[in-house]
Amino acid sequence: MQVPDIIIAIDGYSSTGKSSFAKIIAKEFSFLYLDSGALYRGVTLFAIENGFISDDCTIDVPGLDKALNDLDLHFGENGTYIGERCIETEIRSLAVAGKVSPIATVPEVRAFVDKKLREFGASKRVVMDGRDIGTTVFPNAELKIFMTADPMIRAQRRAAEMTAKGIEVDIQDVLKNLQERDYIDSHREASPLSQAEDAIVLDNSHMTMEDQLVWLKGIISERFGC
Ligand code: DC
Repeated sequence: MQVPDIIIAIDGYSSTGKSSFAKIIAKEFSFLYLDSGALYRGVTLFAIENGFISDDCTIDVPGLDKALNDLDLHFGENGTYIGERCIETEIRSLAVAGKVSPIATVPEVRAFVDKKLREFGASKRVVMDGRDIGTTVFPNAELKIFMTADPMIRAQRRAAEMTAKGIEVDIQDVLKNLQERDYIDSHREASPLSQAEDAIVLDNSHMTMEDQLVWLKGIISERFGC
């Protein structure tokens, strides 16, 4: 399938499989994949390690904002990096997951991440996933998908992913973390998670990755005539 030079924005709830789907799309159509959540997670790890967020999630916003000026957060061969250090494993831990939503409410953090995403996504043929890609980061994206799925199914998927990595988890803790993040992500003041008016909803509760790809190809061929 010859897909034109477009930006594909994928938004939706936590653990709906946005990044897995985006990676498959990138591979299938030779698009660049950008994981915006990884940048929020990277800022969170940085904030934890440098004492800008406390155990009760109080954030030193002026301190963090100042430190962001020198934060070299970027994507590399094995995922997300701070300078030369690959942080891909650390940013997927529950310690980071538990603090990332409060960090993502900070407008200064959102401005920092948005700027990076717009730089990285300046060329077309990009698929990007997050919470506000189709509404704020790339409101002109040619194709916007909004992903959702049943919360328990999402928790089971996330728990299986963590177990496969050797991380012990309790399914109820994972479900609780997901629901808390859904709530904070949808209710924050700065660019909350919301469905763009022109986004197409994909509920993948009972769909395989293959089903989703077939669905997407149908949409692309209908919309772009390819
Ligand atoms: O997609 P993820 O679970 O890796 O995202 C981690 C957190 O980052 C999520 O709880 C909300 C935040 N996020 C955001 O606010 N805006 C985005 N575009 C992407 C992620």
